[in-house]
Amino acid sequence: MSRTVYVNGDYLPEEEAKVSIFDRGFLMADGVYEVTSVLGGKLIDFAGHARRLARSLNELDMKAPLTEDELLEIHRELVARNELVDGMIYLQVTRGAADRDFAFPVDAEPTVVLFTQSKPGLADNPVAKTGIKVISIPDIRWGRRDIKTVQLLYPSMGKMMAKKAGADDAWLVEDGKVTEGTSNNAYIVKGGKIITRQLGNEILHGITRAAVLRCAREAQMEVEERAFTIEEAQAADEAFITSASAFVMPVVEIDGATLGDGKPGRVAARLREIYLDEMRKAAV
Ligand code: PDD
Repeated sequence: MSRTVYVNGDYLPEEEAKVSIFDRGFLMADGVYEVTSVLGGKLIDFAGHARRLARSLNELDMKAPLTEDELLEIHRELVARNELVDGMIYLQVTRGAADRDFAFPVDAEPTVVLFTQSKPGLADNPVAKTGIKVISIPDIRWGRRDIKTVQLLYPSMGKMMAKKAGADDAWLVEDGKVTEGTSNNAYIVKGGKIITRQLGNEILHGITRAAVLRCAREAQMEVEERAFTIEEAQAADEAFITSASAFVMPVVEIDGATLGDGKPGRVAARLREIYLDEMRKAAV
């Protein structure tokens, strides 16, 4: 069955949706995006994603094409038209189409595209019971990773390097410290304390990260926001990642070193449960 997607004000069958070859998202990766999960037909932390989208647009001097209410309406309409139960909604805003020039165009209208991805049983992913393996690779991305741009070539290459090495994902390392995963934030747990890199331009300010840390603090878990090395991670009791689509996902192996007994840790499992519980309650 063909999906219904959204392009610049229209709901269309995916085969009919078109964007200009002059679109700066296509030519220059001049665009930003968000991925919002849907569980039971409802949006998880929509407000958080809308807030970060506004920030990304602002940091790049791009016009906000729609209000938060209008965006919510489109998300809901896509869920309804596609009968989406569990999955994700991808949203992309680019600076629009203009004759190719490095300077930003003055009169281009932003291009807005949204589509759904159905993932039945997204929250019951069996991998959460076994955990994932990660490798480490150098972080050679640009210096404004706090802006959620569509420049995803290196993260894609990182996933391929992981796959080639028989792992599931890669953690990126800069100046000897882990920044984040290719498409997720990275955490370790030592002596019950949850350690994750502090916010800055070096990492994406994960919406899941914010919610998970809030859940952890509310559950009286200790949280320390600082950078850590791969060696420290390998010696940790547990590790995990967070993202809108993976929620809280345990990591059981880092660069070939098994963590603890090789099974997902208790802290990660508990956080996943609390996070999903809280988020389902607040879903819109
Ligand atoms: N990725 N760090 C990076 C580099 C990311 O690409 C992502 C999200 C995150 C986690 O952010 P959040 O919790 O807001 O999803 C951290 C999305 C899911 C993606 O590209 O598909």
